[in-house]
Amino acid sequence: MSTLWTSDEVAAALSPVATVTPFEAQGVTFDSRAVGKGDIFFALAGETSDGHGFVADALTRGAAAAVVSRDVEGARGTLIRVPDTMKALVDLGRAGRRRSKARIASVTGSVGKTSTKDALRAVLSAQAPTSASVASYNNHVGVPISLARLPREARYGIFEIGMNHPGEIEPLARQVEAHVGVITNVEPAHIGYMGSEEAIADEKACLFAGMAEGAVAVLNRDNRHYGRLADHARRFGASRIVGFGRSEAAEARILSCKLQDSGSDVVALIHGRRIEYRLGAAGEHWVLNSVAALAVVEALNADVVEAAAALANIKASPGRGARRMLKFGAGTIELLDESYNANPASVPAMLAVLARTEPKAGGRRLLALGDMRELGEGADAFHAGLAEAVAASGATQIFLCGPHMQALWQRLTPAQRGVHRPDSASLAGDVATALRAGDVIAVKGSLGSKMKIVVDAIVAASGGEAGH
Ligand SMILES: Nc1ncnc2c1ncn2[C@@H]1O[C@H](COP(=O)(O)OP(=O)(O)OP(=O)(O)O)[C@@H](O)[C@H]1O
Ligand SMILES: [Mg+2]
Repeated sequence: MSTLWTSDEVAAALSPVATVTPFEAQGVTFDSRAVGKGDIFFALAGETSDGHGFVADALTRGAAAAVVSRDVEGARGTLIRVPDTMKALVDLGRAGRRRSKARIASVTGSVGKTSTKDALRAVLSAQAPTSASVASYNNHVGVPISLARLPREARYGIFEIGMNHPGEIEPLARQVEAHVGVITNVEPAHIGYMGSEEAIADEKACLFAGMAEGAVAVLNRDNRHYGRLADHARRFGASRIVGFGRSEAAEARILSCKLQDSGSDVVALIHGRRIEYRLGAAGEHWVLNSVAALAVVEALNADVVEAAAALANIKASPGRGARRMLKFGAGTIELLDESYNANPASVPAMLAVLARTEPKAGGRRLLALGDMRELGEGADAFHAGLAEAVAASGATQIFLCGPHMQALWQRLTPAQRGVHRPDSASLAGDVATALRAGDVIAVKGSLGSKMKIVVDAIVAASGGEAGH
């Protein structure tokens, strides 16, 4: 790979207050702990700490240069002085976007952004150099830094865009200036800040505000807000709207799928072409993500058949549905780790996967759920509303924590009840001691509910990885 940024290019993009000592940079970061040799370190002011306090450390660790807005003591190395480091990061991101010859896709939606983005990275990387946002780098810092990391030789660039509050998507979409924008779905996530689902739909549709000429909008054809989103996309000048889903009207359509606990066999019709493929991640929601990804692949002018074949290698990542077989007593337990995220759309999706996962001899289906956060006034109703999906999952013992899960607890039958605790730390021991060989245990909750503590307790109580 060639140099990501030369000092001349950085100087042209950032207009620093003084001339910059020559350097060549291979990366861009704002996290001093993650600084690699040759990175440009941006000293950003965070909520709790100011990056200027870490500049000296970053340079010692090998940063090629640090972008700062004031003097820093003890810093030995190249400093690039600018009036506003956050604005400078956005400027470098824009420069990265502007020089790129890549076909660019942006991904937003209430759930499934990272899953769809990572699936696209995986299938496109097999065809040409591809760059994608890391993790969920989807906010006012994550988007520009991802753009600033776009290598000049990338042929495809995939960027996740997220929001918690109104008005956040449009400026990010304008930075990304995508050729193809996909909205995975519109569901009541973060509804506490957004007021209504319609408001969420209107906000997501701002993805199309910043798209390039002749852009393609990829939309969930089955979602109740499809029409509203399509109207927005047209208004913002999309040249083509592509639907994905089960609907007969979808251009990227699921004809059938055989769901298994290790993945699915899918038959899809993508723009009239019948494609059969194996998908390596389990769950109906993943089948939807996969046709969304194939619709994006087509809109990026990449090879759809080759991409579909590569979907066999997709695996759900830790905290997002990754499955682990753990040794336990004389047998094994299977852990479905969804501890990273939860909302009223993704919990039922996970429960459907649990329902199809067969316990081994002598085992049961167990479930540990923590609160779904940011649901506003309707939070208790959303939690109580999970009762039917919980019953259909076949879970026979249910462990809950968090204040809102009390509402679900009230809806459980005495036979279903394991225990309800105030938080995940006090629940972890109950779950670990309830386990027995053969069990399948699913763990899910919003990140803030810290259900990883429960996952860690399960792993600690086991005899380690058993392999599949
Ligand atoms: N299309 C989907 N429908 C429902 N649930 C999904 C879908 N895709 C993924 N999920 C589940 O939702 C959870 C979050 O997935 P993912 O990380 O892809 O979402 P995200 O939109 O990137 O979330 P975040 O807002 O935290 O960045 C995971 O547990 C995943 O299994
Ligand atoms: Mg994400």
